[in-house]
Amino acid sequence: MADKVLIYVLNGPNLNLLGTREPDIYGSETLDEIAGRIEDAAIASHAEVEVRQSNHEGHLIDWLHEAQADGAKAVLLNAAGFTHTSVALHDAIKAISVPVIEVHLSNPHAREEFRHQSLVGMAAKGTISGFGAQSYLLALDAALAL
Ligand code: DQA
Repeated sequence: MADKVLIYVLNGPNLNLLGTREPDIYGSETLDEIAGRIEDAAIASHAEVEVRQSNHEGHLIDWLHEAQADGAKAVLLNAAGFTHTSVALHDAIKAISVPVIEVHLSNPHAREEFRHQSLVGMAAKGTISGFGAQSYLLALDAALAL
């Protein structure tokens, strides 16, 4: 049997606190619960996901490189606060040939002005934001359809 399609799902700073972090904005599900939903959806599509979270920019960069080395078909990336500041993440996305889909729970364009610029989005294949945890599932569908 052919190898399963592999999708990396990378999550940046403060997303480990989902469930209790500003639930009016980010919802009440924990990252583990969201990861479970992504895994279930992946299994139903005969795909495999690798879901990770780090509060450290360098980890996210290393994992983008690893996604390519591992033969991932796509990366779903919620870079959280680094979205708006990280030239290094922008460069890492450009440095790999694996398509990266930017994901956000909230809609940054409907929030403070400092969230309107996305260095991640400028390098990504596309962006899905504003649908809560469903953003990840929509992004997974988009990744599988690539
Ligand atoms: C976020 C949006 C970012 O602006 C913010 O810094 C986050 C979460 C989201 O998923 O809505 O940490 O990426």
